[in-house]
Amino acid sequence: LDRFRASVAEHDRVADTPRRTQDRAAEVLGAFPERFRNEPDTDPSLAANRDWARRAVAATPADVTGPELTDPAAVDAVVERAAGSSWRAVEPGERARLLREAARALAAARTELLTTMVHEAGKTVAEADPEISEAVDFAAYYADRAAELDPQRFTPARVVVVTPPWNFPVAIPLGGCLAALAAGAAVVIKPAPQVRACAEVGVAALHAAGIPADALQLVHTDEGDAGRRLVTHPAVERVVLTGASETAALFRSWRPDLGVIAETSGKNALVITPAADPDLAVADLVRSAFGHAGQKCSAASLAILVGPVGDPRSKVGRRFRRQLADAVRTLRVGPGTDLSSTMGPLVDALSPKLERALTTLEPGESWLVEPRRVADATWTPGVREGVAPGSWFHVTECFGPVLGLMRAGSLDEAIEQQDATGFGLTGGLHSLDEDEIAYWMERVEVGNAYVNRHITGAIVQRQSFGGWKGSVVGPGAKPGGPNYVAQFGTWTDPARLE
Ligand code: ALA
Repeated sequence: LDRFRASVAEHDRVADTPRRTQDRAAEVLGAFPERFRNEPDTDPSLAANRDWARRAVAATPADVTGPELTDPAAVDAVVERAAGSSWRAVEPGERARLLREAARALAAARTELLTTMVHEAGKTVAEADPEISEAVDFAAYYADRAAELDPQRFTPARVVVVTPPWNFPVAIPLGGCLAALAAGAAVVIKPAPQVRACAEVGVAALHAAGIPADALQLVHTDEGDAGRRLVTHPAVERVVLTGASETAALFRSWRPDLGVIAETSGKNALVITPAADPDLAVADLVRSAFGHAGQKCSAASLAILVGPVGDPRSKVGRRFRRQLADAVRTLRVGPGTDLSSTMGPLVDALSPKLERALTTLEPGESWLVEPRRVADATWTPGVREGVAPGSWFHVTECFGPVLGLMRAGSLDEAIEQQDATGFGLTGGLHSLDEDEIAYWMERVEVGNAYVNRHITGAIVQRQSFGGWKGSVVGPGAKPGGPNYVAQFGTWTDPARLE
């Protein structure tokens, strides 16, 4: 124990500046310059970083939110200003330089972004901090893609509208803007109403980095005439949507020729076979299901337990459930401003689907862990036992802190259940058996398939993020991957996108 204490003290002593250990790791990676280097998250094992997080969450967020536009004519003026921007004439190399500046500006704004996310979006530090790294990564990664574009063969879209969700209030809004800007398109972003300040702080960092004000404009609109005008204005050639499939359909009904690039819903499952390491499987399942209170399109909503793991009367099945229930009950539910919280509140009002998932069992189901409302928007996590194939919970995205357990007689049956949700966003397998892994990878129909890992938190360039089937609308190139930027314009040779 003394040796351990001494090593922690030494570790903390050298940590006189935040992220120092990780900076050293980055220097080592610098020996491989061709490799994209992801921005490191803040390492909470260093005392200096814990102090930094404490100060950041104790700070009062800046009051930055601008007025809401309700008049379609005001929206027209914003879009026309964007359409008139000279951004499209800026050389790809210069755009890339400005995006790299944007990456630096976002990294420099980490404290303010963290404060704003924790207060406005209810995120815990552990959830908010990696999202800032992801935004930095998007800027740096899309800068490289901008530099690759050949202006002789590629014409940027005139105006791109970005309509992000509230659950990732920094990485998703900024990722959409940065990709379109990298392509040479001017951008109008309309943040989700729940998290307007997060977007304002992020966009201000991009402007400070030198992205022109007319090329990147932020507007708040209502969901009525002004919002509709934003996506139907003729100068708008692409809309980036991360949200419900219904919203993508609504946009298309307003304007059938609109280029919608959408990542929509998911109903994601993690398969656990008897060949899994149960400790690892439980930890990754809990993280995937209850990180940000399950409010992620990538979250694990189902665990499909194969063979004896699925059987509550078998020794292995009993032990798995006991371990899972213990881990879930250990989560500490509270506001992100309390650094001991490991699960935050719900950001949005309970949808009818989430209310049903938290309160009502289907025939044959029982609660392994029953969720409880502890404050207005704060629920403890729940685990439903015995979810049946084809039942309501099997196929419905609920977007909250509820996990359902299903049983499968074989890996084949598990894959069938995993694929039968109608969605295809993320999926996972926990197994240490190489043959099972190869078999599953070959067959599972999801955009992001993870083996022996949590199924959320895709890393830019390593795990570009996006789905199949009911989880995607548009050409389907994924954010954080090679062809994403190339969707924001037209090519003289369209095969380029295949
Ligand atoms: N990109 C986010 C994740 O992977 C949604 O969890």
